[in-house]
Amino acid sequence: MDLVTNPYTPSAGRRPLELAGRDRELDEMRVLVARAQVGTTGRGLVLSGLRGVGKTVLLRELHAIADDAGWLTSEIEGSRLTGAKARSRATLARDLVASARRLRSRTTVLTDKLRSALETIGAFSLKLGVAGVELGVERREGRADTGDLGFDLEELITDAAPALSEQGIGIAVFVDEMQDLDAEMLGALLSAQHRAAQRDIPFYVVGAGLPNLPGVLAESNSYAERQFDYRTIAALSPDEALQALVAPAAARGVTYEQRAAQLLIHVTDGYPYFIQVYGDQAWRLSVGPDTITYTDALEAHAAGTEALDFGFFTSRWERATDAERRFMRAMAQDDGRSVASEVMTRVGMPGTSPGPYRRSLIAKGLIYSPDRGQLAFTVPHMADYISRRLDDD
Ligand SMILES: Nc1ncnc2c1ncn2[C@@H]1O[C@H](COP(=O)(O)OP(=O)(O)O)[C@@H](O)[C@H]1O
Ligand SMILES: [Mg+2]
Repeated sequence: MDLVTNPYTPSAGRRPLELAGRDRELDEMRVLVARAQVGTTGRGLVLSGLRGVGKTVLLRELHAIADDAGWLTSEIEGSRLTGAKARSRATLARDLVASARRLRSRTTVLTDKLRSALETIGAFSLKLGVAGVELGVERREGRADTGDLGFDLEELITDAAPALSEQGIGIAVFVDEMQDLDAEMLGALLSAQHRAAQRDIPFYVVGAGLPNLPGVLAESNSYAERQFDYRTIAALSPDEALQALVAPAAARGVTYEQRAAQLLIHVTDGYPYFIQVYGDQAWRLSVGPDTITYTDALEAHAAGTEALDFGFFTSRWERATDAERRFMRAMAQDDGRSVASEVMTRVGMPGTSPGPYRRSLIAKGLIYSPDRGQLAFTVPHMADYISRRLDDD
């Protein structure tokens, strides 16, 4: 099929042509927007799920809804890499200034409330090292610029609140890979959201991350539990998965033979990333011109699996040390969850604490703990991949 018109998007964070099965979460953001218009508030949102399930894409869609409604927004990313801390602060400052400028340019009259909000946003941003800020107002010295992130954020929200209510908008900070956000930023965002909720100010944190994210939040802060609506972002249902596979092709006038679509949906288990990878291969390998046949699907199955093995899975596997790989091989013998102590027995260390493996593999984002004493892979189908490797090695 024509590569130029390939409608599939097998890549992290790329918006799919057909965003299947996420209406509930999109509606939740729309409700927050509508509530801000009438002066009421709601709760922040936490999206957690396995790798490749579509969290980043969904987070960006929610962000776009807030942007379209004229909100002040920012999107930052948690990361354990060096420099991540400084980067998230600079991004927060720059994004807030950018959305404040958009707000300023949309409003014909600069009201006192808006002026006051913009002045404090300017001061806050400068403190975070974003210079050359042009908001068309004086910068207010002595507000939101102590250097204590939590304190400054709270002052910023206080000073912005009258303008938010006047304009019928809110502030939202979107955080991807939130389980890896540094403790200071996490604490600042959570306490700011907590204080805002008490005062009915529409300031929200919308986070996305691995399945351990709710646990990370609970540990960081005793009131995190009530601050958010928690949503598990799961694989798509068979109907939604079918829609995600066939709709992009249909938009180009291409249809799947029923058996072809069934085969590919079956191998993806409804995981959005896999749908994009196999759909992409089907498109590339099909001779067309307007039908993807069962034979094309068989070819795509082989090629898609190979593409996943050499990219998605291998890149994760290679983060682990030899000892960690032995540990994961032992985990892969289980169908789904593993009992950590049993895994230690399998690697020949019965009675030894799994703690060090557990900690470092969680830090590398490869596993999580779904329940006390249990472990599971953050990457869907990781166990199958490990078995395939064993056959090869
Ligand atoms: N709802 C969806 N329907 C179809 N494809 C999707 C959907 N959500 C995400 N995708 C696709 O899945 C892949 C992974 O999405 P991403 O948001 O990066 O996942 P995550 O952040 O959970 O690892 C991307 O290729 C994206 O185009
Ligand atoms: Mg992501």
